[in-house]
Amino acid sequence: MKAQPDLSVSIGALKLRNPVLAASGTFGYGSEYGRFVNLSDFGGIVTKTLTPEPWPGNPPPRAAETAAGMLNSIGLQNVGVEAFVRDKMPYLRKMDTALIVNVGGGPVEEFVYVTERLSDCEGIDALEINMSCPNVSGGLDFSTDPRRAGELVSALRSITDLPVIAKLTPNVTDVGEIARSVEDAGADAISAINTLRGMAVDIRTRRPVLGAVTGGLSGPAIKPVAIAAVYRIASQVDVPVIGIGGIMSGEDAVEFLVAGATAVQVGTANFVEPRSGASVARELAGWCAASDIHSVRTLIGSMRIPSQEDVPCHPL
Ligand SMILES: Cc1cc2nc3c(=O)[nH]c(=O)nc-3n(C[C@H](O)[C@H](O)[C@H](O)COP(=O)(O)O)c2cc1C
Repeated sequence: MKAQPDLSVSIGALKLRNPVLAASGTFGYGSEYGRFVNLSDFGGIVTKTLTPEPWPGNPPPRAAETAAGMLNSIGLQNVGVEAFVRDKMPYLRKMDTALIVNVGGGPVEEFVYVTERLSDCEGIDALEINMSCPNVSGGLDFSTDPRRAGELVSALRSITDLPVIAKLTPNVTDVGEIARSVEDAGADAISAINTLRGMAVDIRTRRPVLGAVTGGLSGPAIKPVAIAAVYRIASQVDVPVIGIGGIMSGEDAVEFLVAGATAVQVGTANFVEPRSGASVARELAGWCAASDIHSVRTLIGSMRIPSQEDVPCHPL
């Protein structure tokens, strides 16, 4: 019988039993899925973005199906950091998997508030910073401006001992530039990507389908965009990259690892089948075993780019 492949990976100081995480906003606070899924099948879970105060999110309708994906405009609906620590952490602390808590806010001070509160709380393994929250003071996303992205990360880096993972938006010209800036500011890892801005129109009423007019596109439709972003980021920084976008299977996860990701997150697939994350991890193990790969770590960044002479010319 073949030995089981070693699936363990490290994101800085954070050790994961396998590289498959549940993505923020698609897995609630973990307990919602606990009845259906063995949470220890995951390398870890990432909870819904937390803000200082509870937040109701955007007006309905807040989700719409699209070809090979979905649009959502849930916004930052969450219980607020105090209720999270009081009501959600007792369950999450007992979980036998890594816990990454996603942090959001409007101005920098709100991110600082949430980060400080969580840094005092036992049982959290890392913080993922949702850099795509609208910034109330400037109306900009933090992750569309390299300088501001760096300022936010360095403000949080200086007040917590937990690993800081910067989660970037793909809605920029060059995600590599933002990645360099957050690495320089002390980010321990980078997650990519968040959703792509999208919109759907109800042609009967000629109204936008979503109550918030636009929303975020996710699911298999965005996988090639996400892989290109991971590849670009991995070529620009030394810190580990966590790939996110349209992952539905173990082979999808392999694509991200080869392109440069150290770990991956499964998001929209959880809405199709709550056990998706577990099956991605199982399929990844099966694929490695069948391909004689003893450690998943050997896949990371193992892309073979053909030399220029081998690339046929394809005029558009
Ligand atoms: C309904 C929904 C809610 C989401 N909420 C959050 C969130 O609160 N914070 C965050 O950082 N990302 C959030 N995301 C983005 C996902 O974590 C992920 O980056 C994105 O959906 C791409 O992965 P996927 O194609 O596997 O879903 C949300 C995505 C969806 C579909």
